[in-house]
Amino acid sequence: MNREEARLRIEELTAAILHHNRRYYQLDAPEISDAEYDRLLRELQALETQHPDLAAPDSPTRRVGAPPLEKFRAVTHLTPMLSLANAFSAEDIREFDRRCKRLLGSEEPIRYLVEPKLDGLAVNLLYERGALAVGSTRGDGAVGEDVTLNLRTIPAIPLAIPRPAGGAPQADADVPPVPERMEVRGEVCMEREAFRSLNRRREEEGEAPFANPRNAAAGSLRQLDSRITAKRPLTMFCYTVGFAEGAPFRTQQQVLRALDAWGFTVNGLIRPAADVDACIRYYDHIREIRDTLPYEIDGIVIKVDAIALQERLGFVARSPRWAIACKFAADQGRTRIEAIIVQVGRTGVLTPVAVMEPVRVGGVTVSRATLHNQDEIDRKDIRVGDTVVIQRAGDVIPEVVEVVKTLRTGAETPFHLPERCPECGSHVVRLEGEVAHRCIGIACPAQIRERIAHFASRGALDIEGLGEKTVIQLVDKGLVADPADLFGLTKEQLLRLERMADKSAANLLDAIERAKHPPLDRLVFALGIRHVGEATAKRLAQAFGDLDALAAAGPEELEKIRDIGPEVAASIAGFFREPANRTAIEKLRTAGVVPRAVTRPRRAPLAGKSFVFTGILNGMGRNEAKSLVESLGGSVAGSVSRTTDYVVAGESAGSKLAKARRDGVAVLDEAAFFTLVRESATE
Ligand code: IVH
Repeated sequence: MNREEARLRIEELTAAILHHNRRYYQLDAPEISDAEYDRLLRELQALETQHPDLAAPDSPTRRVGAPPLEKFRAVTHLTPMLSLANAFSAEDIREFDRRCKRLLGSEEPIRYLVEPKLDGLAVNLLYERGALAVGSTRGDGAVGEDVTLNLRTIPAIPLAIPRPAGGAPQADADVPPVPERMEVRGEVCMEREAFRSLNRRREEEGEAPFANPRNAAAGSLRQLDSRITAKRPLTMFCYTVGFAEGAPFRTQQQVLRALDAWGFTVNGLIRPAADVDACIRYYDHIREIRDTLPYEIDGIVIKVDAIALQERLGFVARSPRWAIACKFAADQGRTRIEAIIVQVGRTGVLTPVAVMEPVRVGGVTVSRATLHNQDEIDRKDIRVGDTVVIQRAGDVIPEVVEVVKTLRTGAETPFHLPERCPECGSHVVRLEGEVAHRCIGIACPAQIRERIAHFASRGALDIEGLGEKTVIQLVDKGLVADPADLFGLTKEQLLRLERMADKSAANLLDAIERAKHPPLDRLVFALGIRHVGEATAKRLAQAFGDLDALAAAGPEELEKIRDIGPEVAASIAGFFREPANRTAIEKLRTAGVVPRAVTRPRRAPLAGKSFVFTGILNGMGRNEAKSLVESLGGSVAGSVSRTTDYVVAGESAGSKLAKARRDGVAVLDEAAFFTLVRESATE
């Protein structure tokens, strides 16, 4: 392959990989197998090694794919990452303004820049000659942890800042050339909606949910395996530069304008404020709209805009005198922990929950807060009888922020999760590498309740009218011990339950009857196999077509399915090996629960895929190629449009190829097209 061919192929591979990254990481709807994806990535890597000068600094080979790290390296920031002094009221803001004026020896109004204070994780990005070299956490302000591989997976972070060719003047005279070495600083966050769906997925898969978006962002950024971070929906807002060689910035606003022009994400709510009154109006306004923002904030930051004034004001200890964080009074309250109870979930996980004297927080009365797990209790040293500060963050369950240790009387008692399950008396174990303690009793009534509630839930068999309260009564009265028992319930039995009238009992029996023939994937999800959420259940159903085939599969066979790694495969195979589970499944079958037959698609691996051919194919004629695509279920169109999936570019390809490149449609050369067809046909 000559240089020009290599350049074209690199472009094609890049477009294809970007397309597949989006399908895989963002849409959770991959179109090609892992093996196929790895092949594309390896081909690109090989070409980049052969032609290093053609390797784009933001090539997808540089976003993901590095092997997991043993531990993070320490990095010293070129300039320290400072913290901010705190203010809590309009009066504190006026005091800050008076002090600035006093230090500057001027009564003139000071012009500020006002910004939301984002509740995430501060990071530092070091760019060398426009390319991201090192990304690190704040750490203690002087030395942080090297999380470059993880930061590279965040779409909002440019891997390379495009530089104008040949030093041509920038379009915007206010934007200086990119400094040779520059530190860009900002906050890595997870938006609320993304946080909620991440937690939903974790709970479905039997994993502990994150307490709040900030913890989720921090946990995701501190993964040793960057492929995990890549799946977490992180974003980054940049708000300043640290070290910036020769950058002639005059104002903070100019810094932000440059960051924006260089491709960083700058928060859209940042405003200039002509004087202290404007700062206070901004503070009130942002507090008002706080809950409507897609991300969490905990206050505003006020910065003196002119850099010359910032330099004159200087620093005290580790905080600049020219900036202040003005926090919102959090939705917090103080109360006493009366008891700590233990809840047992579907997978046997024990969750400690604080029962507190009721207190109003953010307009809602709160009397319970999750304590997450034993590690969290130990870290915060939470004891029964303690007075604690609790907080509601957005619509997240209330949590204990800290213990008010000065109010301790000595009568408080430390808490330890029990060694025996409070519901069934079975042993409680903590598995290697897990924070959770689990009850291992298979007949544990709490687990039974949770399993049945899960079985009947919306994404599973969706049995209308079988809510949590009914399930509790059914299990407590001994009417139901496993999901199959639901199908043997009689009207007389149901009428014995509280708040169950003739009509509702009849409706419930109907709903149970209707649930007997679910799609296979819902039944698989309903079984409550650890690590098997709705998406995984769908893949399993597609791959195996019926429950017996799935139950017979060994870990190696399961691992061949996309997105199923060793841990998930072991969990599935282990579930079906367990005699009690086999009996429960057999019982379901006897009760008449038979999933709807999966209509296996006929061999149509390219179904829904639209191809456009351009240029001359050497290996076969256009018509032949077209019937090949059609025989595999794909379609062929004459021109590139929004619905085109692949443009196949032969020799002397012209405008269709140019359009495909412009629109980001995946481009295949003849060889790649044949590989795709061959692999689709044999998959
Ligand atoms: S400026 C010297 N701007 O707050 C300036 N910080 O207590 C240092 N933060 O570690 C930071 N939003 O994590 C700045 N718009 C914003 C911010 C912000 C959140 C965080 C950041 C920093 C901490 C300072």
